[in-house]
Amino acid sequence: MNGWKNQLYYGDNLQILREYVTSESIDLIYLDPPFNSKATYNVLFDEQNGTKSKAQIIAFDDTWHWNQEAEESYYETIKNEPKKLADLLEAFRMFLGQNDMMAYLTMMAPRLLELYRVLKPTGSIYLHCDPTASHYLKLLMDAVFGQKNFQNEIIWCYKSGGATKKRFGRKHDILFFYSKNPDSKTFNTQKEKSYMMHKYGFAKSNFQEDEKGQYSWVIMKDWWELPSVGSADKQRLGYPTQKPEKLLERIIKASSNKGDIILDPFCGCGTTISVAEQLSRRWIGIDITYLAINLIKNRLHDTYVHEFISKLSDYEVIGDPKDLNSAYALANESRYQFEWWALGLVDARPANDQKKGADAGIDGHIIFFDDNSGKSKRVIIQVKSGKVNVSHVRDLKGVMERERSPIAALLTLEEPTKPMLTEAAVTGFYEPEFFPNKRYPRFQIITIEKLLSGEKLKYPEFSLATFKKAKKKTKDKAKQTKIF
Ligand SMILES: C[S@@+](CC[C@H](N)C(=O)[O-])C[C@H]1O[C@@H](n2cnc3c(N)ncnc32)[C@H](O)[C@@H]1O
Repeated sequence: MNGWKNQLYYGDNLQILREYVTSESIDLIYLDPPFNSKATYNVLFDEQNGTKSKAQIIAFDDTWHWNQEAEESYYETIKNEPKKLADLLEAFRMFLGQNDMMAYLTMMAPRLLELYRVLKPTGSIYLHCDPTASHYLKLLMDAVFGQKNFQNEIIWCYKSGGATKKRFGRKHDILFFYSKNPDSKTFNTQKEKSYMMHKYGFAKSNFQEDEKGQYSWVIMKDWWELPSVGSADKQRLGYPTQKPEKLLERIIKASSNKGDIILDPFCGCGTTISVAEQLSRRWIGIDITYLAINLIKNRLHDTYVHEFISKLSDYEVIGDPKDLNSAYALANESRYQFEWWALGLVDARPANDQKKGADAGIDGHIIFFDDNSGKSKRVIIQVKSGKVNVSHVRDLKGVMERERSPIAALLTLEEPTKPMLTEAAVTGFYEPEFFPNKRYPRFQIITIEKLLSGEKLKYPEFSLATFKKAKKKTKDKAKQTKIF
């Protein structure tokens, strides 16, 4: 496809759309923005051995507040953008005042405008939301995409989640489907099993059987009963708002064809991307956290790269530091993003909770197995973006002892001092019982510069259980590339 590479961007989608995505270049957009649900979502990583890790990470803070940034964004939109949208935002502000919902809608408005710009005339967009803000978002969609281009309000019904006796259980999400031009849009009709009880009556069957004994199929309706990603689900990666692959499969099959470009500007743990890859579509994903970017990289690798054969199309990660200067820039921008990014460089799993402070001196870890007991061991990792000295090594050695970790690593942006290197060296070597000829330094200090130039941590790589693995999938034979 003319040297096309799929693209995974780290950053704010507004800026990325403006800077990198050409007008009228996208066939299908699916977006699942935070819902203003005032929830702070925690990621619960699953260990590969099935036990729940204690590690909780704040994936993203789903809360919007009216502040200077919201005020500026509001005035920008009113000043520059189409009159209909400006009128609507003013009306919203009169009704809502300066509250969190208003901040959320002000954030969404310029992004929807950019999405309109990048969508092809034959393209479609699906905005996924819930009843918290759906009534306001539909008005925004009308203002940007045009009332006449509205196609469907799809209700996704599921059973999971909590229950209340105070009202009816809230068990659905909403997807607004708009096309840029309904007459020339791509739309592949899909069918589903009929729920009409024809032949057998109520008790016997849910499905209608024809004279050949086949269940009959009807044109798919605008309410979809699909299970959400449950805690025991194989596709579950531990990302709190992960959507089921089946949902994305329906959308992508309906509104795109093979080779089309799919964009997900709030791509989370990459459900859209993984399904687009599976269905031989091209894709662009954007997310504002490195946690999401790292999960997606692992998801794609675990799903499509098999032992000797890669079924993964080429993709590039854009916006992550490729050199020391940009690593410094990221560290200045956000210590947490830097930490997640640095842990990603060594395939480590983050281990702390942003809001509760350091998790007893550990920022991340890598799990490995080097004996036949089935018990895992950990390389414990600390990431430092500021000045470092020998006390950092001593402190981490203390944690190492407490945790009985055979190996510890300090990833540092600044060069280590000589006393640090000496203190690390005297920690000695770890010699695994089952691999008598192997030995690994117990305390490793490695600079970001060295990691960027390809240097690796040393530990027994018998088996890795970093991120919960995604299930392997097979794809079109034509797309397979040999990697050996
Ligand atoms: C509801 S989640 C998406 C979940 C996704 N559909 C999945 O299946 O994993 C929303 C995502 O939007 C990201 N996000 C929030 N604001 C963003 C922004 N301005 N630019 C890019 N991504 C953003 C968050 O980091 C989060 O991963």
